[in-house]
Amino acid sequence: MELAIKTQVPLSSYTTLQIGGVADYVVEVSSVEELKQALAFAKNETDKPALILGGGSNVLIGDEGYRGVVIVMKLLGRVYEMVDEDECLLHLGAGEELDEVVSEVCAKGLWGLENLSSIPGTVGATPVQNVGAYGVEVSSLITTVAAINITTQEEKIFSHDECHFSYRDSFFKTSEGKNWVITNVTYKLTKKVSPQLQYADVAFLKERDTITPSVVREAVAAVRSQKFPDWSKVGTAGSFFKNPMIDATHFVQLKEQYKDIVGYEQENGDVKVSLGWVLDKVCGLKGFCENGVCLYEKQALVLVAEKNTTAESVKNFVKNISQIVFEKTKIKIECEVLFI
Ligand code: EPU
Repeated sequence: MELAIKTQVPLSSYTTLQIGGVADYVVEVSSVEELKQALAFAKNETDKPALILGGGSNVLIGDEGYRGVVIVMKLLGRVYEMVDEDECLLHLGAGEELDEVVSEVCAKGLWGLENLSSIPGTVGATPVQNVGAYGVEVSSLITTVAAINITTQEEKIFSHDECHFSYRDSFFKTSEGKNWVITNVTYKLTKKVSPQLQYADVAFLKERDTITPSVVREAVAAVRSQKFPDWSKVGTAGSFFKNPMIDATHFVQLKEQYKDIVGYEQENGDVKVSLGWVLDKVCGLKGFCENGVCLYEKQALVLVAEKNTTAESVKNFVKNISQIVFEKTKIKIECEVLFI
């Protein structure tokens, strides 16, 4: 089939921050065959590697746009494979909307994805930053990831271990990993009742006599609607920063100064600090705005951009915020969102 190639396309409409300059070419692909054709087109037409986008919910694209080919992943497909009475492998096309999938599996009574409800973006993006919420990281469900090499078009199935998952990170965020396009992801789900309710916001469900994936999904959606802005109305990318890991001594020092500081001890002894708390309670930055960019009034870790805000304004804002946090706490913060 002939590829539909659009030229001179503003990328703002392809990202949830609603920011981004013009791309020379945009191609939406809905099969592996089309993806390969698009990769070949990119190779022939420009000397820049193709830029791959899913739902655009975790990227900040520069005001200069992209002097090359942007490939938007629309590969669909949901295949349920029952391994035994309980276990189910769900094979998904990378372009599937995560929340539509979560809704469907919850309705089928399958456990695993329910805590990841109401997260914007596509399935193909979930391994990249190891999407997580309310005590569940998607890496705990991923068995394999199928991908195609942008340069060589080699097809490869990555095992769970080859993905090198850690907190909001994976092989696919490394310079080598960025050369692979994810086409398919397999999640392992189960019919066995297995709610994950350790996270404070969902712990109240432990009191329930009967619990189903849909009950958890509804509770998570209710919490998120309180803490996150409406994606359809404002530009946002969810948590803009990672929660920083600091060593135990540093955490003790901060605790002496700020006794209620929230932190979670990690296996290696480091502490993951809730940056939302620090931005809010230590720095007083919840709701702070500058040039159309704000830390959301109900959750300081969430960045919100007003209409027509530039990427430059976001970058300056982030620089200022990082400096304030460092001056107050000596914590160096990192962005979760990828800058392009
Ligand atoms: N807090 C404040 N003020 C704020 C924000 C948070 O005091 O303005 C406090 C909260 O009361 C809580 C703690 O900080 O005690 C942590 O806040 P929350 O539970 O809202 O979670 P988070 O650490 O800010 C992380 C993830 C979210 C995920 C939630 C729930 C990261 C970078 N973010 O946020 O993921 O939904 O936990 O599990 O790890 C995302 O990655 O885009 C994302 C939204």
